[in-house]
Amino acid sequence: MNTDLISFLKKQSHYTPVGDIEEKLELSRDAIFSDVEALIEQGYSIEFHPYLGVKLIDIPDRLLKHEIRDDLNTKVIGRKLEIHDQVASTNETAWQLIEADDELKDGTVVLADTQTQGRGRMGREWHSAAGHGLWMSVVLKVAVPPDKVAFLTAMASLAVANMLQQFIHLPAEIKWPNDVIIRGRKVCGILVEARSNVPDTFVLGIGLNVNQSRHDFPESLRETATSLRLERPGAKPLNRVRVLRPLLFYLERVYDLTRKKKWDKLAKAWSEFVHMGGKYVRLNQGAAEVEGTVVRVHPSEGITLRINGAETTISAESASNIRQIQPPAEASHG
Ligand code: BTN
Repeated sequence: MNTDLISFLKKQSHYTPVGDIEEKLELSRDAIFSDVEALIEQGYSIEFHPYLGVKLIDIPDRLLKHEIRDDLNTKVIGRKLEIHDQVASTNETAWQLIEADDELKDGTVVLADTQTQGRGRMGREWHSAAGHGLWMSVVLKVAVPPDKVAFLTAMASLAVANMLQQFIHLPAEIKWPNDVIIRGRKVCGILVEARSNVPDTFVLGIGLNVNQSRHDFPESLRETATSLRLERPGAKPLNRVRVLRPLLFYLERVYDLTRKKKWDKLAKAWSEFVHMGGKYVRLNQGAAEVEGTVVRVHPSEGITLRINGAETTISAESASNIRQIQPPAEASHG
C-alpha cells in the first residue's frame, strides 16, 4: 500500500491534478493509477475526475497500522501496535507477547477485529462483534502498590469517559467500579489483569462498543448494552480508527498521572464522571446481595453504602451487578 500517496492526499483539501502528484511523489502516471486502484481495493474512498485529478474522500473503517499511527499524539501508549483479524482474547495475546519478550515495550497495544473468547470480569464472556468495536489490550509496565491497583481500572474508565464526552460529545458516565455508560446503558467494559509470575506488569483490556445496532447484541444484552452508533441516531457510523486515536491519547494522559502516583488528582477527575452519590443501589457481594444508599465511591477504597444507618465499604473486587433500585420507604427518608 502506498502510504506516501495516502499522506499526500490527506493534506490536500481539493482535487489534486495527477501531474502534481507525479512531480511531488516522483511517481509515473501509471504507478499513480495502479496505487489509487490498490487503495480503493483496500477500502479507501477516492474520487477521480478526468480534469481535476484525485481526491481522497475517506479512509476505511479498518484497523490499519499506518492509519492509527498517523497523527497519533502519544509517546508511550501505542508505540508498538499488534493488530489481528481474530484472536481468542486480546488480553491473552498481550500476555503471550509479555511472556515471549522481556523487553516488550510499555504501552504496547493489541487490537483485534473480533475475539472468539473475549473475557469480562468475574469469568463472564465479553461479546465482541466483528468489526463493530474496539477490542484492545494495553500492556502497562508500572509498579503500583497493591492497594492502588484498582486505580488502573479507574484511569482507563476516566480516559474512555473523557474521550467520549470531549471528543464525541456523548454524556458518558462511569458506573462504579469499571463500566462506562451512556444514558444508563453500558458502552464499555474494562478488565485489568495481573499475573504473579510477571511483576510490575498489567494488561488493561478495553472493550468499547462502536458501531453495533441493536440486533448485533445477543438478546440478553439488548436492554442493557449500547454502542456509540446507537447513542448518535441519524449520525454516520464512526470510523474506529478515529475513535481509537483520541482514546490512546487520553489513556496516555491518565497513565502519565498513574506513573507519577497522582492518586488524588486521578480520584478527583474520576469522581466527576461518577454520579452515584445518594442513589439507592443493590449489588452482589460474592453470593450475597447487599443494598443501601451510596455515600461515596472511591477508585481504590470502594463503595460506601449506608445500610440501616451504618456505613459499610465494599471493595470493587468483591462487588458485581450493581443496579439502582427503588428505596424502601424508610431509606428514602434518610
Ligand atoms: C467487563 O465489563 O466485564 C470487562 C470487559 C472487558 C472486555 C475487553 S475486550 C478487549 C479485552 N480482551 C478481553 O478478552 N477482554 C477485554
